[in-house]
Amino acid sequence: MSECERIELRGVTVFRRALDESAQAGLVDRIREIARAAPMFHPETRWGKRMSVKMTSAGKFGWVSDRRGYRYERRHPSGADWPPIPAAVLEIWERFGAVATPALRAPECCLVNYYGEGARMGLHQDRDEADFTQPVVSVSLGDAGLFRVGNIERGGKTESLWLESGDVVVLGGAARLVHHGVDRIRFGSSGLLKDGGRINLTLRVVT
Ligand code: SIN
Ligand code: MN
Repeated sequence: MSECERIELRGVTVFRRALDESAQAGLVDRIREIARAAPMFHPETRWGKRMSVKMTSAGKFGWVSDRRGYRYERRHPSGADWPPIPAAVLEIWERFGAVATPALRAPECCLVNYYGEGARMGLHQDRDEADFTQPVVSVSLGDAGLFRVGNIERGGKTESLWLESGDVVVLGGAARLVHHGVDRIRFGSSGLLKDGGRINLTLRVVT
């Protein structure tokens, strides 16, 4: 894989177009296989509000949310094991995670988020994991998404950037716990997914 443009946004590293079109299409095929084994679902918050994104996971753990709250689970809500993280996704973790952390462990969860028309994700921290020395590596596929980055504390100044298909984001080091979210997507801006929408993969070490 060739070098790509690298942008720093409040400590978060964005690798622009890190994945070429054939790598992106290959990932979409792998994600369809994951969704066949572990169907996407709309999680609910603790307060019973349906999240606008649909989710599923691969790996030893999957991230779920329902009236019992947010947590990692060893099984899909159906009771089935989560499918394994595809090799092509593990390669992305190795290549980009190493930028943030020399002592990189193996990822234990690949969360798959699907943003259809109108979906968004509010500002939050990724803090359900035990080892914050390990980064979060995220991959954007399909339609562009307006990614907002804030601070470790709640509130304060934020900055935004449109993430496009093939971009890889690393939340690591001092920026591991920054607040981040997706305000909106530009539905139909990419031809990668035949029905439109945006997929985001986030890779994490959980334990
Ligand atoms: C997330 O924080 O889980 C998703 C971020 C994104 O969709 O880019
Ligand atoms: Mn997150």
